[in-house]
Amino acid sequence: MSGGGFGRAQAWLVAGLVAAAVSAGGGLALSAGAPQRWWTPGEGRVFPARLDYDDPSGKLRLLLDGGPMDTRGHPFFEALGTNGRACVTCHQPADGMSLSAASAQRRWRETGGKDPLFAAIDGSNCPDLPQGERASHSLLLDKGLFRIARPWPPRDLNGRPIRPDFDIEVVRDPTGCNLSARWGLHGASPAVSVFRRPRPVANFKYILATGFEMDPKAGLPLPIDPETGKLSSHNLMADGRALSLAAQMREAGQTHLQMIRRLTPQEIGRIVDFEQRIYAAQQSDSQGGELDAAGAEGGPGKLKASEPGRLGSQGVAVWSEYSPWETPKDDPTLTPAERAFRASVARGARLFRERTFLISDSAGVNSPMGFGNPVRNSCVFCHNMSQMGMDVAPGQVDLGTTNLPFADPQPDLPLFRITCRGPPHPHYGPVIFTHDPGYALTTGRCADVGRITLQSLRGLAARAPYFSNGSAKDLRAVIDYYDRRYNIGYTEQEKQDLVNLMRAL
Ligand code: HEC
Ligand code: HEC
Repeated sequence: MSGGGFGRAQAWLVAGLVAAAVSAGGGLALSAGAPQRWWTPGEGRVFPARLDYDDPSGKLRLLLDGGPMDTRGHPFFEALGTNGRACVTCHQPADGMSLSAASAQRRWRETGGKDPLFAAIDGSNCPDLPQGERASHSLLLDKGLFRIARPWPPRDLNGRPIRPDFDIEVVRDPTGCNLSARWGLHGASPAVSVFRRPRPVANFKYILATGFEMDPKAGLPLPIDPETGKLSSHNLMADGRALSLAAQMREAGQTHLQMIRRLTPQEIGRIVDFEQRIYAAQQSDSQGGELDAAGAEGGPGKLKASEPGRLGSQGVAVWSEYSPWETPKDDPTLTPAERAFRASVARGARLFRERTFLISDSAGVNSPMGFGNPVRNSCVFCHNMSQMGMDVAPGQVDLGTTNLPFADPQPDLPLFRITCRGPPHPHYGPVIFTHDPGYALTTGRCADVGRITLQSLRGLAARAPYFSNGSAKDLRAVIDYYDRRYNIGYTEQEKQDLVNLMRAL
């Protein structure tokens, strides 16, 4: 009897201690049980089967198929090279397996710029610059961009130089890297330095799926991965230079990790295994609540459970995940704000599919295909892979994000003048000004200047800024870009609906 009373008193005491510990830790922005955000190489954490992180508009969820997994000794999570980075350094779980500019800034503050993330090779504007200064890392800190050095002239899959049908000159070089004696276009191993966002390492079941045997955007058969002899989805990397995950990571090992040895077949196998098991998507929204509630199928659960078999607009309508929210059931537990947000997401999905505009001068769509220029269609014309928002017809499109006059002003990025040697570019004529020639750095073709591989559209809320050059600081800026680029004339409500859809993916 008295024992029972004592037990209750003990329970109170323990509860009090826990409450005190939580309030003391409040200043650390770490509530009890919240996972630590930053993954440091070699920590040896266990990657759980389900992992949630707060992001600016709600909660991102990662699912590891067949998880949990011990990351100790796992090559994605260990520093394999000379600069102390692991793959996870730039592909952070809390950032949807990409890296947000906000996380780079936080890491700079926490480590005084000493984290291997800021390694001179590509985590600074140019390795020539004084590495202790913030200004030398401004592209990573302000826009989440890494330096990607592409060989000039471009190389084919066997490493042999391609004779490009255009000349490239440096017009403006704010980072100094394109005119650098060591790293530049006229250095010992000539290279073009462009600056790009890390693409998310998740949801590859979809990204690697092939919907067509042709690349209609180039009018050619899909490329064959020389290692497997199979068709490549051709949806990897901004400039489509890697035809498989294995090819991608061999390059990442040499460049981003500065490895002096090569990845072993066993390491490649383990990284591919992890990459094919990891799913990431927004799971809940600060205004809309759980994204898989009331019949909707947002969140990564559906991604993990489904197959990318029926791709495209003829199969499952893109973002039909949110169709049930078009006709909401009377749910007294919902607040008016939640109800309004859900209706907005459902309208956004319909706008994405149905609101048409004139798509013009976008190589990969308006040329060389037979759709004409301009062609009236909607967002889904390009983003039509259901559940993922990439393009079922693979290949690269010039949205104008890197080419003048369409690109937003980017005084901090290099600017190149491209002069076509053969026939002029179908939309820009003989001379093109670009911040990143994109796919043309892989093919050597002037017609491919500025063409970029579409990213997957899941987990967007966790990984601002957007577009491969980080030129859209938030999702509203993405929608504003489209509105200007194609003269769409969205109403304020339509813009908000599209933003709400994007943040719910
Ligand atoms: C220094 C930062 C950094 C590190 C470290 C890094 N990556 Fe990346 N990763 C990037 C960037 C930037 C891109 C986009 C490059 C481009 O588009 O040209 C990318 C793209 C990718 C992609 C392509 C995804 C897609 O859908 O196109 C994969 C896969 C990937 N990385 C895997 C890895 C692996 C595996 C490792 C470790 C061996 C690794 N990365 C290390 C920055 C990094
Ligand atoms: C003509 C083809 C085309 C159309 C139409 C199109 N997009 Fe895109 N979209 C692209 C390409 C190409 C990219 C990659 C561009 C880049 O990274 O510079 C992209 C990128 C994006 C991104 C950035 C993803 C990221 O991870 O940074 C979002 C978001 C997006 N599109 C949403 C939309 C919406 C919303 C619409 C309709 C208003 C739309 N797109 C219409 C081709 C298109």
